[in-house]
Amino acid sequence: MNNEPFLSIVPNGSPVAAHERARLLENPGFGRVFTDHMVTIRWTPEKGWHAGQVAARAPFQIDPANAVLHYAQEIFEGMKAYRTQDGTITLFRPQENARRFAQSAERMAMPPLPEDLFLQAVEALVRIDSDWIPEGDGSLYLRPFMFASETFLGVRPASEYIFCVIACPVGPYFKGGKKPIKVWVSDAYTRAAPGGTGTAKCGGNYAASLIAQAEATRQGCDQVVFLDATERRWIEELGGMNIFFVMDDGSMITPPLGTILPGITRASIITLAAAEGISVIETPYSFDQWRTDATSGRLRETFACGTAAVIAGIGEVRYSNGSFVIGSGEDGPLTVRLREQLVGIQRGIVPDKFEWLHPIT
Ligand code: PLP
Ligand code: COI
Repeated sequence: MNNEPFLSIVPNGSPVAAHERARLLENPGFGRVFTDHMVTIRWTPEKGWHAGQVAARAPFQIDPANAVLHYAQEIFEGMKAYRTQDGTITLFRPQENARRFAQSAERMAMPPLPEDLFLQAVEALVRIDSDWIPEGDGSLYLRPFMFASETFLGVRPASEYIFCVIACPVGPYFKGGKKPIKVWVSDAYTRAAPGGTGTAKCGGNYAASLIAQAEATRQGCDQVVFLDATERRWIEELGGMNIFFVMDDGSMITPPLGTILPGITRASIITLAAAEGISVIETPYSFDQWRTDATSGRLRETFACGTAAVIAGIGEVRYSNGSFVIGSGEDGPLTVRLREQLVGIQRGIVPDKFEWLHPIT
């Protein structure tokens, strides 16, 4: 791409008033409060990516025969902008989100958005809506997504797409804040099969997970743990997070890539652990072994990780025939240390020795 700005900027003429924004930022929750603008870029076979703009956040007008409403050709990303200690605004490893978005597009037979355009779009939205980045522990959650926008009911890859980025100020993902979470192991439902879409961040994966998530909520749990689709034996990931196990010899286990989402937090934790001399084994770990090891004490800690959740200790595991507690039921020391390091880097408190931060100027 040349260096011409691809996005035209049309500022929102009636943004949320400053006092109202301040009120909303006090306790934004997760995913309910949105900023003043959005980015849109369209794609057609004739024009490629075109009509890029940053403009007032507004509803789309969608024909009832729009392909995405019927066949769910849709992908998304989740990333955050942070205000660091010295006031700089920064993204965390956004190139990884750009790359994963292109890989998701490929799996879903969608045109990949050039990675530099993805970054330009995200940066432009953060810049124009920077007043919406909360102070303190909060951050600005960014949601780039792309959907088929052709009006056509035939089943084939669509010939029109819209890429969009919206943003919302967020606090902790879980209502309990940093308290350990409870998880429900689903034996009735699986999330992704070999050859399926587990490695893509597509809406359909989440649609398929909701019945199990609803079951988890009914069982008093925060998240669902999915087992593999073939043997119903191996732990894969949570509805919206990857998972790590800390053993009594100080090593960690995490499920291998293949049918799970290749989390950017997961990859970062593996790097952080390696730098501390902790060995992380990417290997299948069964639900039965998890229960046995938690009971015998061989397993010390378990935590979930992802952009929205950051690092969340798992205190209790429930399943159809019982439950067990991990360690003392509180966050373990490695869970706490890795969270402090990761959040510390994101906030500019801990030196960014892996060059993960991407300041926005
Ligand atoms: N697994 C699933 C199913 C997710 O939805 C997420 C969240 O994005 C993750 C794992 C963690 O990925 P990341 O660390 O890139 O946010
Ligand atoms: C994220 O962590 O960004 C996700 O997309 C997962 C969802 C639980 C919000």
